[in-house]
Amino acid sequence: MVKICCLGAGYVGGPTMAIIALKCPAIEVVVVDISAARIAAWNSDQLPIYEPGLDEVVKSCRGKNLFFSSDVEKHVLEADIIFVSVNTPTKTRGLGAGKAADLTYWESAARMIADVSKSDKIVVEKSTVPVKTAEAIEKILTHNTKGINFQILSNPEFLAEGTAIQDLLNPDRVLIGGRQSPEGQKAVEALKAVYANWVPEDRIIATNLWSAELSKLAANAVLAQRISSVNAMSALCEATGADVTEVAYAVGKDSRIGPKFLNASVGFGGSCFQKDILNLIYICECNGLMEVANYWKGVIKINDYQKSRFVNRVVASMFNTVSGKKIAVLGFAFKKDTGDTRETPAIDVCKGLLGDKANISIYDPQVTEDQIQRDLSMNKFDWDHPPHLQPMSPSAIKQVSVVWDAYEATKDAHGVCILTEWDEFKTLDYQKIYDNMQKPAFIFDGRNIVDMEKLRKIGFIVYSIGKPLDPWVKDLPASA
Ligand code: NAI
Repeated sequence: MVKICCLGAGYVGGPTMAIIALKCPAIEVVVVDISAARIAAWNSDQLPIYEPGLDEVVKSCRGKNLFFSSDVEKHVLEADIIFVSVNTPTKTRGLGAGKAADLTYWESAARMIADVSKSDKIVVEKSTVPVKTAEAIEKILTHNTKGINFQILSNPEFLAEGTAIQDLLNPDRVLIGGRQSPEGQKAVEALKAVYANWVPEDRIIATNLWSAELSKLAANAVLAQRISSVNAMSALCEATGADVTEVAYAVGKDSRIGPKFLNASVGFGGSCFQKDILNLIYICECNGLMEVANYWKGVIKINDYQKSRFVNRVVASMFNTVSGKKIAVLGFAFKKDTGDTRETPAIDVCKGLLGDKANISIYDPQVTEDQIQRDLSMNKFDWDHPPHLQPMSPSAIKQVSVVWDAYEATKDAHGVCILTEWDEFKTLDYQKIYDNMQKPAFIFDGRNIVDMEKLRKIGFIVYSIGKPLDPWVKDLPASA
């Protein structure tokens, strides 16, 4: 029986290994993590992450050929293939701080593999890493050589949170990069054989190591760039009376462009886009490619601009101050169908409103109060470091309350900000919400999910990104 061990039981390691276990009954899969709490959660009824369909898959395999363990060394020792899916956050200090990938967790994982191993292993880079990382990992692994042959493969993960199970079951492609040597190609074939259990052969792409590593950064940069492009266009739509939904639809109908990922919003978030583009920018700078670095910097700048533009709209519309006013925030996760809040635009929007002394009442169906308070108290980039390395849980921010119901959040509020596109926000009883709010009642839709006309008929003043402006909103100073 082939044995797989995965280091890192996070958003990638957990779901990816669950699907491998589901589709490959002849393979034993053990997911290990240095966080005992995370492993305990994977072994409980309350999994540590929310992902549609994940519970069922884990329950059907756990204890059969899927295991979660804190005994990292034992399972590394026994494994034939080791996936490394540890976090690779942005460095917060030292050389490249704020841009370069922090490979501390990766390096310690590689050193541990080198120390513990007694037989040949295939080591798979599942984490997103800077191009050329495999070269450094090879040096670490072969440093302690005891005659053991390590083959490094790059197998970046393209799943998106919220649709992880579907993405894993039916991937657009699986990318496997390996050394061009016979041993390297043998390792590529071994990993191909795992995926071939459910992925059609023509979707499994073999490349050289560096192409595979760089393709992941490139894919995320291009996806984020599409969002920033349409968000940049949304500002121009508001200024001219064009409607961004109509523009995006017309643009996306061009088969060279396509309709996906062209929704205007308050900005992109998540643990990957910003981190991976910053990483790409750093790699460009290190290679002396300043123009290329600046090109990608623009994608991040537009994203920051979109968030502050949204906050300015809210404050300016509400008579240039939200001080002491209750603002309801509906949605805090970076997108629907996940509880993940890493780099969610809600953090910057809430911080902006708090800066103007608003009282915020937040409701998100999947995010806990503890998580929201921690996010709002943390410095930028601290969010992607494992819990045991995070600063002590800070005292709660007094202007923020977290409630478990959209009606409670909006009761007596002066304004409502929709920051995540949860389906349930589309079908709320907005008449009831309006009746219980202060007047004039404002709605700022950061995800373009509400029916503007319907809400205007109820009596709301409505702002939606990139849409023709409500006369009330239109007569505001240009700074908004
Ligand atoms: P995560 O933070 O949810 O999980 C990483 C886990 O690794 C943590 O539980 C941490 O305790 C553990 N860990 C750290 N050092 C370890 C070690 N030496 N041994 C064992 N466990 C260790 O991170 P996530 O979101 O799963 O991301 C992992 C990698 O996958 C990152 O490089 C990310 O860029 C990439 N990725 C993430 C995607 C996402 O949507 N979250 C999608 C595609 C790639």
